[in-house]
Amino acid sequence: MYRKLTKAIIPVAGLGTRFLPATKAIPKEMLTVVDKPLIQYIVHEAAQAGITDIILITHSSKNAIENHFDTHYELESKLLESAKHDRLDAIADITPPGVNLISIRQPEALGLGHAILCASHVVAPDEPFAVLLPDVLMYHPQQGCLAQMAEYYKQVHTSVVALEQVPSDQVDKYGIAAVKDADLRIVDLVEKPTPEEAPSNLSVVGRYIFTPRLMQLLKSTKPGKGGEIQLTDAMADLLNEQVMFGFEFKGGKSYDCGDKQGFLEANVEYALRDPQLGSSFHTYLSSLDLTELKPKKSK
Ligand code: G1P
Repeated sequence: MYRKLTKAIIPVAGLGTRFLPATKAIPKEMLTVVDKPLIQYIVHEAAQAGITDIILITHSSKNAIENHFDTHYELESKLLESAKHDRLDAIADITPPGVNLISIRQPEALGLGHAILCASHVVAPDEPFAVLLPDVLMYHPQQGCLAQMAEYYKQVHTSVVALEQVPSDQVDKYGIAAVKDADLRIVDLVEKPTPEEAPSNLSVVGRYIFTPRLMQLLKSTKPGKGGEIQLTDAMADLLNEQVMFGFEFKGGKSYDCGDKQGFLEANVEYALRDPQLGSSFHTYLSSLDLTELKPKKSK
């Protein structure tokens, strides 16, 4: 039975070791792209898709995320007193209107599938849900990736997963999907295969809409790659029972901010698109002497 999509799960319990030392005391989701932490972009992408309940699967070291979305009365009254209205505007819509944030602790780091399962008691047994991985930023000038997927979900009433081509030597960083036909029906899914094992080079990008059945399947998913309960394995089980479609994000660009290179590229490109900063930042970048700044070959 079709039910409207209103819930999204964002797993934020991971320790972000790839960004150490920056993430020793700061959650990786609080790293900023220009002037907003990654998690704020993700929450806004979910809200634009009509999501009203966002479930953060979190960890004791990640309180800064919840604090970021809380009202800070002292800060607001100081800004009001000093008539700093532009600064007030900057914090006014951190939590999009009409959105509730719900936090659930993941008691042990048992994998992405386990993190999603931690939300099972707040997602009704007949309710679809979205999953957004906060490492991946999906830029679009108008309609975000999840909003595009939610529109497609309304037509197909079945699970929809964002997919993107990656070079063959990178397939071992992602869930990889094999699809058939022009409608991208998914026929196989493998978590982080070697290039030899990979059924294609279409990677799972980090945006998903699932039918309620996925949550039930996660309950019996055994540890897989890396000894962790993998979301991809439960999705592969779902393929035996239901149709699942791949989805190509249109008119935008994804940035893998779980990786330093992707994070830096996001910062440069978001800064160039920023209405206030863009022009001066473009002038600055154009003035760089890239011959002089050419990195020395590492020994
Ligand atoms: C996770 C998923 C993987 C997906 C990736 C997208 O991996 O397990 O299937 O392709 O996110 O970013 P992680 O990056 O958490 O290792």
